[in-house]
Amino acid sequence: MMHVFAPGRVNLIGDHTDYTGGMVLPMAIDLGTTVRGDRGGDTIVLRSDACEGVAAVPITVSDPSSVVPEWARYVAGVVAELRPRQGFVGEITTTLPLGAGLSSSASLEVAVALAIGDERDPLRLAQLCQRAEHVGAGVPCGIMDQLIVAAAVEGHALMIDCHSLERRAVRIPDDVAIYAVHCGEERRLMGSAYADRRADCAAAQAVVGPLCEADIDQVERIADERVRRRARHVVSENDRVRSFARAIERGDHVRAGVLMNESHRSLRDDFEVSTTTLDQLVDGLCATPGVFGARVTGAGFGGCAVVLATRSAEITGWRLWPSAAARVSGEVFR
Ligand code: GLA
Repeated sequence: MMHVFAPGRVNLIGDHTDYTGGMVLPMAIDLGTTVRGDRGGDTIVLRSDACEGVAAVPITVSDPSSVVPEWARYVAGVVAELRPRQGFVGEITTTLPLGAGLSSSASLEVAVALAIGDERDPLRLAQLCQRAEHVGAGVPCGIMDQLIVAAAVEGHALMIDCHSLERRAVRIPDDVAIYAVHCGEERRLMGSAYADRRADCAAAQAVVGPLCEADIDQVERIADERVRRRARHVVSENDRVRSFARAIERGDHVRAGVLMNESHRSLRDDFEVSTTTLDQLVDGLCATPGVFGARVTGAGFGGCAVVLATRSAEITGWRLWPSAAARVSGEVFR
């Protein structure tokens, strides 16, 4: 019997930057997806403790985006990209809240890919699962989620340059606590609004070239007001990721928190992926004793805020621990 675990992730800072080759700083978490089962036959058959129905995906599946139930499209996307030689029968259990911005989908994709295939190189595994999300769920996501799930280092976050795909492990100090707090709102409009933001960034790049190389003066000269704001977010967020990593590494949690708060304002005002409920949650968290900073995490449009706090701060949410990458039967591949 195979036993695969793939973590979820929380992004500490650097949102809506990955698909323009920018900087991100996600951390794998101790919540995640487990797949147990055996290979054989010519269909991938998976039940889930979190979703209705059975995923029954033939290894020859040709249109993963039309598979039902809907959650099985993530499985079907992986099958279509990986083309396994044999099927798999097993069960999925998850400790991750679904659709909360903690990468339940990337976690599921990587767990399924490790269970049904032999790809163990973290980058290739992540790229395969990113394509799976594109063809299965129809979300044109970047590489961040799948790469942190496949390549995380225990005790650390990873600063990833999404252009060069270089990764640097950034140790999470022992004297801070990281939380995810759900705003109570399910994520809405995810597919279409996400694609709209990508299109805005593409429009900006048509004017100033790659946003990962642009500076703020170039961006301020973009004529279209909305496109200018989107680009301003991306360029300033790339800087904040680098500054945050430096601050955390020198133990300056106060500065790290300020950068998180700035990131939230930029995602709220310039990138427009927050919601009133999320804004109120973040304001309340920032006013809580012991909190260094808080921000919306992941794609936005609902879901979770991530919080950096002292270990004694009283926060109601998931306390998250920096965890290792996905693993097969206990063995971590990196
Ligand atoms: C989703 C996508 C990622 C990334 C974030 C926003 O989680 O899957 O690729 O773009 O949104 O930072």
